Amino acid sequence: MTEQLLVARDLRRSFTSGGRHVLALDGVSLTIAPGETLGLVGGSGCGKSTLARVLTRLMAPEAGSIAFMGEDWLALDGARLRAARRQMQMVFQDPLAAFNPRATVGGVIADALRIHAVVPRAERPKEVARLVERVGLPSDLLGRSIREISGGQRQRVAIARAISVRPRLVILDEAVSALDVSVRGRILELLVGLQRETGVGYLFVSHDLAVVRAVSHRIAVMAAGRIVEEGPAARVIAAPSSDVLIDLIGAVPRLNRNPRS
Ligand SMILES: Nc1ncnc2c1ncn2[C@@H]1O[C@H](COP(=O)(O)OP(=O)(O)OP(=O)(O)O)[C@@H](O)[C@H]1O
Ligand SMILES: [Mg+2]
Repeated sequence: MTEQLLVARDLRRSFTSGGRHVLALDGVSLTIAPGETLGLVGGSGCGKSTLARVLTRLMAPEAGSIAFMGEDWLALDGARLRAARRQMQMVFQDPLAAFNPRATVGGVIADALRIHAVVPRAERPKEVARLVERVGLPSDLLGRSIREISGGQRQRVAIARAISVRPRLVILDEAVSALDVSVRGRILELLVGLQRETGVGYLFVSHDLAVVRAVSHRIAVMAAGRIVEEGPAARVIAAPSSDVLIDLIGAVPRLNRNPRS
């Protein structure tokens, strides 16, 4: 058996706000193998972004364990944590919140290359230009500040930054949701091509089942902080068992095999 890239076990996380207690993660377990895409779908508020944040250690779980590349990810610190961080990148649902809005497009990507010493300093500008081109952004955007570009452009900058450090795993939280159909197609092709080249794994979080179906090897369905269904993408969609997935399939005309029944 090949070693799993990521193994999360029984993750729990709750929030209390306005006197209300929400169990955002109620015992979530999942695995991602090298070169695999796990699609994660579920309705708004079911806990997808919380899971993404806990997996990337932006937020601590109250219980549970995460092994990443065979190491106890939640226990890593110091230099080993910094080295491992390069290997797990995240593209946020709200890319503006993830950037310094005054930073430039070129600066954001160059910083990632510098921090993780991906290429020698002299090659950085060329590498930045190559990445920007790969995500389909015009080179005259390089000097623009993050707040002066559109949401879809920001999302592509975030994707360029995430892949710039050649990670082993990328967690994409609604990463293509703000893109128009043609740009989205191009980005999905880029992600799939990169996976073939490098064996990168993806956790692909989206409310758009058609997009998830197109890129995922396996699909996990979340509802109220739990994974309620999980399996190979084709099988899960052909024979959904959870109400959430049945509803999601019904909402996508081309996945709905019996639209009139
Ligand atoms: N920082 C927080 N403080 C309080 N409650 C939170 C916080 N973050 C998330 N929650 C709550 O936890 C639950 C899960 O939220 P989460 O953002 O993970 O959902 P989601 O599946 O990503 O939803 P969406 O599809 O709308 O992005 C929700 O009830 C949300 O209100
Ligand atoms: Mg979310």
